[in-house]
Amino acid sequence: MKLSIEDLATFCKKKGFVYPNSDIYGGIAGFWDYGPYGVELKNNLKHEWWKFHVTSRPDIVGIDGSIITHPKVWEASGHVESFEDPLVEDKKTGEKYRADHLVEDQLKIPTDGLSPDELWDLIKKNKLKSPKNNPLNPPNKFNLMFSTQVGPKEDSSAKSYLRPETAQVIFTNFKLVAENARLKLPFGIAQMGKAFRNEISPRDFLFRCREFEQMEIEYFVHPDHTLKCPFIKEVLKHKVSVYSAVMQSRKFKPKIMTMEECLKKKIIKTEWHAYWLAKELQWFSDLGASPENFRIRQHVDTEKSHYALDTWDLEYEFPFGWKELEGIANRTDFDLKQHIKHSNQDLSLYDEEKKQKIIPHVVCEPSLGVSRAFLVFLFDAYDDDKERGNIVLHLNPKLAPVKLGIFPLTNKLKSDAEKVFKDLANDFPSTLDTSGSIGRRYARADELGIPYCITVDFETKEDKSITLRDRDSTKQIRIKLDDLPTILPQLLNNTLKFEKAGKLVK
Ligand code: GAP
Repeated sequence: MKLSIEDLATFCKKKGFVYPNSDIYGGIAGFWDYGPYGVELKNNLKHEWWKFHVTSRPDIVGIDGSIITHPKVWEASGHVESFEDPLVEDKKTGEKYRADHLVEDQLKIPTDGLSPDELWDLIKKNKLKSPKNNPLNPPNKFNLMFSTQVGPKEDSSAKSYLRPETAQVIFTNFKLVAENARLKLPFGIAQMGKAFRNEISPRDFLFRCREFEQMEIEYFVHPDHTLKCPFIKEVLKHKVSVYSAVMQSRKFKPKIMTMEECLKKKIIKTEWHAYWLAKELQWFSDLGASPENFRIRQHVDTEKSHYALDTWDLEYEFPFGWKELEGIANRTDFDLKQHIKHSNQDLSLYDEEKKQKIIPHVVCEPSLGVSRAFLVFLFDAYDDDKERGNIVLHLNPKLAPVKLGIFPLTNKLKSDAEKVFKDLANDFPSTLDTSGSIGRRYARADELGIPYCITVDFETKEDKSITLRDRDSTKQIRIKLDDLPTILPQLLNNTLKFEKAGKLVK
């Protein structure tokens, strides 16, 4: 049976991954703090994302923009007018609920793309009540942006917003970045950072928060080349479970297909969309997530954001259902054109061949929430190993918050183990565990996903070797201390088999 989201939250608190924010004051819904192991896992995940999407590619550069911007950014982007969710109110208590969540929870049906009127029809037809069993008022729209005040003024001229997506700062800096990094279309600009949404009902632990981080790319292409992607060959054979808008409307089941098939059958309309969907799934599976827990689902028309021509979500099967993990929208030239109009600035690029100005299109915007990716890696790594009698987090070593557990066999060997720690910890984030039996220490290391444990024993002084234990197989090898700096990186990068790294210990 799949671990529930509540059980994962309990595990995360107990083991120092994630705490409810302001817990000593009773907490505050939608805000979470990352503990000593959570912050490392989160940083590793972000580092791997940046490496895969930015530093290893010649066509994508990164920026790090401000959270608060000129308020006109949000008027131009359409967020002031349209960044809303449907809200229903308990007639008696005045408590407010997200209308689509209320219908989804009570009727156990997906509500993606239903309008407020359709939701109200369902509420009336099924005589749905509030969770406190009271009648409800018809849905209103609620804007999700957190507003704030900039400077000592209190009038409307001081009003601004905390950004609800990182994307807009990419658009406002687009021209400068393109010039400074001498980018030629097609190219991408990436950013990771905080975003804030005043969610009506934050829930499911880290899945829907009010403060979270996004990792986003705006991928710009020439307006005449929005269909063909020069990298498509890389992903044509990639397979994925596909759930198009047509399949949803005809009540068909999702189907496993190759990207080639999706393009041939025109299920996915542009090669760019197929490319980015496949690459995003590849990022997750390369880091150890199970591909069978993923699918791609196209937004139905009524569900699309105000800026999107076509959107596909990379979805993951959470214990509370198939849910959006990452959105990949075709934003066209909507945002650049809006900012050109509202700022009166020229954000076009010059096409040397055509000798004319052009406004590039964002054919794809891969947009992933850090905390949702964090959940996915934890769910797929979590293993309640009955044989061992403890939980094991089978995290990819690249993501593991701590790479090495270093133990003295007995406390007499503490200073020897401390020396090993000092020699290695600079290059390999390590923990020195000196309390309890070795078995107990292995169990603690398994629960934090530590891939390798070193035991310093009485022979270490003589043979200058230690015992290295592999988290996943529990196998142990004897290995020279001097060999560790060359062997460990290979083990942590999965380029060397554990059994080949030293002499197997019975
Ligand atoms: N720039 C496009 C954009 O922001 P979105 O679908 O609203 O699109 C993108 O958000 C991603 O950000 C989502 O797929 C999800 O991973 C993450 N996200 C959105 N709202 C979130 C929330 N309240 N809590 C955690 N992550 C969230």
